[in-house]
Amino acid sequence: MRKELKNLVDKIKDQRLRKKVVDVIENPTIKIEKIKYKGLSLEATPAGKTRHHAYSEGLIQHMIASSTIALSLCDIVEKVYHGRVNRDIVLASTLVHDSMKPLTYAVEENGSFEVSPLGEKMDHLTLIVSELIRRDFSLDVIHAVTAHHGRAGPISPRTIEALICFLADSTDATLNGETLNAARFLMRDCLREEAGQLTAEQAFAIVYAKQTKGCEGVKEEFKRIRNKE
Ligand SMILES: [Fe+2]
Ligand SMILES: [Fe+2]
Repeated sequence: MRKELKNLVDKIKDQRLRKKVVDVIENPTIKIEKIKYKGLSLEATPAGKTRHHAYSEGLIQHMIASSTIALSLCDIVEKVYHGRVNRDIVLASTLVHDSMKPLTYAVEENGSFEVSPLGEKMDHLTLIVSELIRRDFSLDVIHAVTAHHGRAGPISPRTIEALICFLADSTDATLNGETLNAARFLMRDCLREEAGQLTAEQAFAIVYAKQTKGCEGVKEEFKRIRNKE
């Protein structure tokens, strides 16, 4: 497991819960009608097809980023508002909330991402919730994961831990997705070119180049990206 991810998993104090979380991350499978669905490797999986983290390794980055945001929100609840929050539940739910995405995507020959046959019939939220129930997770973790799409999902967050999981997820998805959108827009606006697949690193560099050096900066940055490919 990648080091930054492992460091976050290791912050789960309850050993039994930590072991279960590791197992979901390393072995995100589901059995339906005796067929075991496995999906892409964690490294190859995006966290979204177009909207956010739409590149391989996107899911790992989203897991690391959203869990880091979630921990900062726990700090705010405790230190600023003097509230109580269970960090084990927050971390467990945030780390596994999108763990079934590898099963819902497939890679095309040209490297683009498509929806897998399983993904055509089941969404990642329903898949992970079913699997968390089967793997005997606590109701509080299951609730936080079920509620991670907020009002757009099957149930709204009803606990502080679930609210944090939802906010951390949507904050990172927005940070990443808006930056990718901005970079694609700048490529069209400054270069009259379609960007194709961009990583978040490239998108942040393109936006920064525009804000510091204008369209000239975007052109230079794009040349740098192309030369590295
Ligand atoms: Fe999700
Ligand atoms: Fe997510």
